[in-house]
Amino acid sequence: SDSQSTIAVASPADFHVHLRQGELSTLVTKHVRQGGFNVAYVMPNLKPPITTTDEALLYRAQLQAIDPAVQYLMTLYLSPDLTPDEIRKASRAGIVGVKSYPRGVTTNSDGGIESYEAYYPVFEAMEEEDMVLNLHGEVPSDAAANTCVLNAEPAFLPHLRKLHARFPRLRIVLEHATTRAAVDCVKSLGDTVACTITAHHLALTVDDWAGQAWNFCKPVAKYPDDRQALRDVIKQGLWFAETEDRAHVSTAMFISAGHPRFFLGSDSAPHPPETKSSATPQHACAAGVYTSPILLPLVAQLLESFGALDRLEGFVSTYGRAFYRIPIASGEAKVTLRQVQGKIIQEKWAEGNQSVVPFWAGKELVWEIVG
Ligand code: NCD
Ligand code: DOR
Ligand code: ZN
Ligand code: ZN
Repeated sequence: SDSQSTIAVASPADFHVHLRQGELSTLVTKHVRQGGFNVAYVMPNLKPPITTTDEALLYRAQLQAIDPAVQYLMTLYLSPDLTPDEIRKASRAGIVGVKSYPRGVTTNSDGGIESYEAYYPVFEAMEEEDMVLNLHGEVPSDAAANTCVLNAEPAFLPHLRKLHARFPRLRIVLEHATTRAAVDCVKSLGDTVACTITAHHLALTVDDWAGQAWNFCKPVAKYPDDRQALRDVIKQGLWFAETEDRAHVSTAMFISAGHPRFFLGSDSAPHPPETKSSATPQHACAAGVYTSPILLPLVAQLLESFGALDRLEGFVSTYGRAFYRIPIASGEAKVTLRQVQGKIIQEKWAEGNQSVVPFWAGKELVWEIVG
């Protein structure tokens, strides 16, 4: 078909995904490449969480056995078990990062952090080893502090500022940003601080998850103006002021490119349908939106909806890879999308005893992966 109805992007990388364990993992790990992605930055919040190098290497081997064609990047769950020595061991073993979950705010995060100061020796070792700190940037809900899911992320941002000030060379990723406050904060910090944005947070606001369990995730989608800030930072241009050239003409260059420290991390988080759809007084609805099997077409459609389709490659590949220093293997083919009509997202994917329901089930996708 003609060039206007196809787009090719350099090897896409998803810098935040939940691939689970057991039978569910067998089902969802295959969806990474189905959704157009060759790299998966794998979250450690298993039961029990992945807290050591050996556990992470075993988990990576299990994922490789399911689909060896994906490059799995591993991150350890920050807990009191994690020592500077373990950090050095992890770094030698090729583990990329450490993820911190504030206590109690999200799935399987009961063993998460309360205060960061106890971890400063760990962060020092990470800075020395050039590992990445992944932050789930929400404070726990606390009536006395007037914090709840709507302001949990803005209330966390002082912690991010303080960590960056104390560890300016430590690469930090604020995961799954959902607010204008978070976007502004990350923009204001140095080149060692980046931010992932999910596909679903480009689509949803509070109205979409209030009463609709399939759109419920943590952090929750926020106000329309917050969603606008996420869209704007992906769409924004960059001005480079050049110094004077040989002819003493001062030039400025405009690159229509988005922002190199804001890139995709899907936070695709599958849950068994009964844990999403039948909350009881004892069990709240599970938090998580599942996007893996449709991810690249979904992101293309969302970016196109706000006039940023030309930012697709930077957002899904180049920027995250540059921040994480994960180059594209030489000779690795681009992934091509083409426009399509009448393609409805299926209601579920199933294998064995497991099934998952995707985001936008029953809705139409206007892009599909070629081949
Ligand atoms: C502080 C924090 O995380 O910023 N404590 C906390 O969250 N309970 C402590 C610190 O910065 O080290
Ligand atoms: O919605 C979410 N689901 N947010 C998280 O941070 C964790 C994830 C999960 O593991 O289900
Ligand atoms: Zn998280
Ligand atoms: Zn997550």
